[in-house]
Amino acid sequence: MNIEGKAWRTIWLEDGGKSIGVIDQTRLPHNFITCSLSDCDDVAEAIANMVVRGAPLIGIAGAYGLMLALIEDPSSESLETAFQRLIETRPTAVNLRWALCRVFEKVKTLPVCDRAEAARSEAELIAEEDVRMCEAIGEYGLGVLKKLAYSRPIERQKEPLNLLTHCNAGWLATADWGTALAPVYKAHRAGLNIHVWVDETRPRNQGASLTAYELSQEGVPHTVIADNAGGHLMQHHQVDAVIVGSDRITSSGDVCNKIGTYLKALAAFDNDIPFYVAIPASTIDWSIRDGLVDIPIEIRSGMEVTHIQGQYVSSPLSSEPELIRLCPSGTEGFNPAFDVTPARLVTALITERGITSATYKGLKRLYSDVEI
Ligand code: MRU
Repeated sequence: MNIEGKAWRTIWLEDGGKSIGVIDQTRLPHNFITCSLSDCDDVAEAIANMVVRGAPLIGIAGAYGLMLALIEDPSSESLETAFQRLIETRPTAVNLRWALCRVFEKVKTLPVCDRAEAARSEAELIAEEDVRMCEAIGEYGLGVLKKLAYSRPIERQKEPLNLLTHCNAGWLATADWGTALAPVYKAHRAGLNIHVWVDETRPRNQGASLTAYELSQEGVPHTVIADNAGGHLMQHHQVDAVIVGSDRITSSGDVCNKIGTYLKALAAFDNDIPFYVAIPASTIDWSIRDGLVDIPIEIRSGMEVTHIQGQYVSSPLSSEPELIRLCPSGTEGFNPAFDVTPARLVTALITERGITSATYKGLKRLYSDVEI
């Protein structure tokens, strides 16, 4: 997707494949900075500190992290240590485990001299597949958005189609295109009149900083709202549909996503507004059924709640982000990073293979080739 008119991906190979380049997402939207990750530890730290974030992207980064570990030391011990180090960085998004397992399985029985190269081609394949899956989600989602736009009463059809999204499930969260935002980009490029309500997404504000940044760069009309405003807008017919991504969906269709998603699903349900979840195959955890019981929820530092990061308005040229304390010093914060939306609140899933219900039957209809 575009930054200042130039096409970028979020992750790339550098230095003849000896390091990887990423966009430092902790510095957006005020500073566009790229950085090099040259060993497995760099990658693990970048994932844990959310320099790279978003379920598909941390999977891809993890895959490259294994490659870097194997360049340094291709032994089985090094492979296992790197796998463990990377998988422990963030527990909720299943894409990380999925990608690490793919590379691990690919290389584990190979002669040590072939492992780094095999890891590199698998990681590249994972990244390329991610781009293709996300673009396909965009195409299917475009169909959904067109249907929504044209099924409105004729007198409303000149108005923009108002979508609401939570967190950042755009191209910054993937290799390219995004999941929930891919249909938005496709629709915008197809000339559909759309407008996106962007939840700020406390505590880390991925909506206010990353989604707003992406949509600005692509010229998509959008407005940032306080997380608590969504229900009010829905009650006043200012939201036509909600569209979000996911970090892990169970085989029965329970959706885990950024904290606060569940409340939006409840409000959408109460107001008869469709609630769509866009997911690639890498986000489905076929091994579990009950999202509330089986999905590990990452608990992040309470400081992300008691403090906020931003740029001083009075010195906008300062490139360093400032940390501001919101609470009395000594007050503690509690910070579960994700929540689970039960399948019954999800109108439909938008996948790279088409649209389906958030049920085992619906998922299995699209993924009949997956062995469980
Ligand atoms: O904590 P983050 O920023 O990694 O959380 C990201 C999300 O919750 C996204 O909505 C999710 O990964 C969807 S991915 C396109």
